[in-house]
Amino acid sequence: MNRRRFLLNALAGASALALAPSLLRARSLPSIAEAFASGLEANPWMAGWKSVAAESFGPGPATVEGRIPAELAGTLYRNGPALYERAGQRYEHWFDGDGMLHAWRLDQSGVSHQARMVATAKYRREQRAGRFVVPAAGTAIEGAEAIRNNDDMNTANTSVLCLGDRVFALWEAGSAIELSPEDLATLGPVTWRDELAAAPFSAHPLRDRDGSIWNFGSLDMLGGKGLLIWHLDSDGSLKEVATLTDGQPGYLHSFAMSERHLVFVLTPYRMREGKAFFERLRFAADLPCRVAVVAKDALAAPRWFDVDFGMVYHFADAFEQGREIVVRASRHGNPVAARSPFAAAMRGEVAAEEDPVELVELRIDLAGGSVRWDETGIRGTEFPTVDARATRPRQSRIYAPVRQGRALAPYPNAIASIDVHRGRMNVHRYGDEIMAEEHVFVAKPGSHRAGQGWLLGTLFDPVRGRSGLAVLDAEHLDAGPLASAWLPFMFPLGFHGAFRWDA
Ligand SMILES: [Fe+2]
Repeated sequence: MNRRRFLLNALAGASALALAPSLLRARSLPSIAEAFASGLEANPWMAGWKSVAAESFGPGPATVEGRIPAELAGTLYRNGPALYERAGQRYEHWFDGDGMLHAWRLDQSGVSHQARMVATAKYRREQRAGRFVVPAAGTAIEGAEAIRNNDDMNTANTSVLCLGDRVFALWEAGSAIELSPEDLATLGPVTWRDELAAAPFSAHPLRDRDGSIWNFGSLDMLGGKGLLIWHLDSDGSLKEVATLTDGQPGYLHSFAMSERHLVFVLTPYRMREGKAFFERLRFAADLPCRVAVVAKDALAAPRWFDVDFGMVYHFADAFEQGREIVVRASRHGNPVAARSPFAAAMRGEVAAEEDPVELVELRIDLAGGSVRWDETGIRGTEFPTVDARATRPRQSRIYAPVRQGRALAPYPNAIASIDVHRGRMNVHRYGDEIMAEEHVFVAKPGSHRAGQGWLLGTLFDPVRGRSGLAVLDAEHLDAGPLASAWLPFMFPLGFHGAFRWDA
């Protein structure tokens, strides 16, 4: 079978699954909306999972405390699920909410904020219907209507890619959706090559040193088999696309990249009957993960390895040390809870037990053919980011929200710079009531040493009812923010963002 035929077959399978009756089975959703409303009353921090109050915000000024660094002028684009309820129905899975794109614009004159719902085909269709009518990834939708393919379900709610002067909202299992960088108007889904329309382009692309972009798209999730590997040029043109297949279905949300290799860790799962994808999915902790190591100059010749089961959403960085590749990742310790993070909060409940996350190192011995997980003992580190200029573990710091001391919510309240190599951590604790999200690293102009830059992180303050942005010196987190910018309102927690310098 030639490659193009394979892709078409794989994607045809995707449509078939998306139409499977099991996705459309009903569940009594109004009671979940009611339970959330009462849970929110008792626990104000659950506003992080509350449906957004407006279709757009701003543009409007934020109140700045401190000083924005003189050289820092650009926009932090952030994405996240924002619309969770329609007509009394509430999604049960955090990943289901329709995406809202935010633009935090910073320069010497201050900080402004603007946000708009991404006008996906799904969002527009449900705006017209006044209720949920499209199958969701994690919630069975009562009375869901037929869809043509995975892009009809695309919520564009996970991350952002800035490529030249273009901005894209990304989802896990469909096309990138292009938006206007200026006013966040939705321009529509992108087709990188005609026969690849609606092919999955994941939410975690990685930028190589030459400016090109690597990404993958999981076909397993869509009822196909294996992965697509995407390679885009820095101008957004498609350089290469390849497929990667294995006998065992594997889930992955992101991947890792070292100097010469791409590393894909596929977490094994089995599917139960009924309900939506994430409800049917059970991670198979009795099976090993399959690890594919793909040389960037030989996409068709992957090396496959087995490693003990582990569930990772996010990888931090990866390094080549002789014939070994070391990959750092945030590994979830509870494979049952990991398939639906903050499921309890989505239902208005306080979780009886949490899903522990640990920073681990995946060590791939290319010469000996073995792979193992090494634990670091550093816990609670989801949404890790790095300065991609670091070429060795000793240069690298992993920036991750963590929880330190008392916290109002079961959520990070601090930001840490973690030196795994030396076992050191530098932390700024925002306070009991602040919920700290991903902090994006932005290199200082003219700097060459890894770590010289700022962290831009969004904050959620349910006690004062406000959302905000902090700017910290990445080398001096314990000095606290150089500047904070607050809005007089709040919107739900998001996932990932990307910074774009002003032209
Ligand atoms: Fe993610």
